[in-house]
Amino acid sequence: MAKLMVLTLLGLAMTHLKDYQSSYQKRLTAFREVEPVDLPNCNLVKGIETGSEDLEILPNGLALISSGLKFPGIKSFDPDKPGKILLMDLNEEDPEVLELRISGSKFNTSSFNPHGISTFTDEDNTVYLLVVNHPDAKSTVELFKFQKEEKSLLHLKTIRHKLLASLNDIVAVGPEHFYATNDHYFVDHYLKSWEVYLGLSWSYVVYYSPNEVKVVADGFDFANGINISPDGKYVYISELLAHKIHVYEKHANWTLTSLKKSLAFNTLVDNISVDPVTGDLWIGCHPNGMRIFFYDPEHIPGSEVIQIQNILTEEPKVTVVYAENGTVLQGSSVASVYKGKLLIGTVFHKALYCKP
Ligand SMILES: *[C@@H]1O[C@H](CO)[C@@H](O)[C@H](O)[C@H]1NC(C)=O
Ligand SMILES: *[C@@H]1O[C@H](CO)[C@@H](O)[C@H](O)[C@H]1NC(C)=O
Ligand SMILES: *[C@@H]1O[C@H](CO)[C@@H](O)[C@H](O)[C@H]1NC(C)=O
Ligand SMILES: *[C@@H]1O[C@H](CO)[C@@H](O)[C@H](O)[C@H]1NC(C)=O
Repeated sequence: MAKLMVLTLLGLAMTHLKDYQSSYQKRLTAFREVEPVDLPNCNLVKGIETGSEDLEILPNGLALISSGLKFPGIKSFDPDKPGKILLMDLNEEDPEVLELRISGSKFNTSSFNPHGISTFTDEDNTVYLLVVNHPDAKSTVELFKFQKEEKSLLHLKTIRHKLLASLNDIVAVGPEHFYATNDHYFVDHYLKSWEVYLGLSWSYVVYYSPNEVKVVADGFDFANGINISPDGKYVYISELLAHKIHVYEKHANWTLTSLKKSLAFNTLVDNISVDPVTGDLWIGCHPNGMRIFFYDPEHIPGSEVIQIQNILTEEPKVTVVYAENGTVLQGSSVASVYKGKLLIGTVFHKALYCKP
């Protein structure tokens, strides 16, 4: 009798695991193949071979790019080299990338592992670069001053907090003032993998300032990209494994209220970039999550870029601008525009630059 019970329980558990498995495959859009959407005048960026996982284009056309991410479960083509921040001037006809030198006595460049980045420009035109860093598998936010003439980054500060434990992306609203996504609730790698497998949706978003740190939104199935509208009134959050972009209203006290407005897609939505001129959202996406989380050279991940216009209206316009099966570009994670040019970054692969 006891055995029967054990068997029944095991059977029940197995049925449930099957449910979990099928839901897991759905969340990872495991069976999707990409239908190509071509763009003319695109070239791979010379000098980017090991990722361009996040990038930001300043209003003057200088692009800052984080490269060389090492993240559990994600492919790296150069696992022994530290990560770096690259600079590219989109005003040039044929821009080259160069690595920004990092100065500052306390910063350890050997363990630099940059992930999401964001800039903030103050009234004096000083540009601050905030970088999510994973030194030795931890999560910190590094604050740098971008020194344009010297082509370098001066390290000013490392920010740590227990609510900044599984960081992914960041959007700065001041030098030491930001919203950030934690893509997992757990910090431990083993527990993280169960959290994702079971779809617990415990991932959350944090507001950080030197005086106050608080959770402002939670219940996400892998909160990933985060960004803010040009007028500063709305915050956009991408929920990778639910395939959704959520719109939040930002209040004077920095809390967020869900507008209950979310757009759903058939792709894993990663970084969100906002066009400062039009307010359009540009999203780097993973058409097939299985291929990005379980790298297999025989089944490489493709790339997909989506543009959302008029997101606040009744009828936002969604356009797949670019889609490709990975032969050219693997694992697009971010896309951003400057004067009609489009720069597409990837988690661990190359970068693509398209001219109008
Ligand atoms: C810098 O990081 C490397 C790589 O993680 C580590 O081996 C080294 O001990 C660190 N140095 C300092 C001064 O912490
Ligand atoms: C950008 O994309 C990478 C690739 O998945 C992701 O891990 C990272 O969190 C994203 N960063 C931002 C700025 O959204
Ligand atoms: C923040 O502001 C919003 C809008 O005014 C208000 O509804 C909310 O209660 C405030 N929250 C806190 C914690 O003060
Ligand atoms: C990917 O797309 C290219 C161009 O459309 C095509 O030549 C190639 O066979 C495709 N590769 C796979 C693995 O489907």
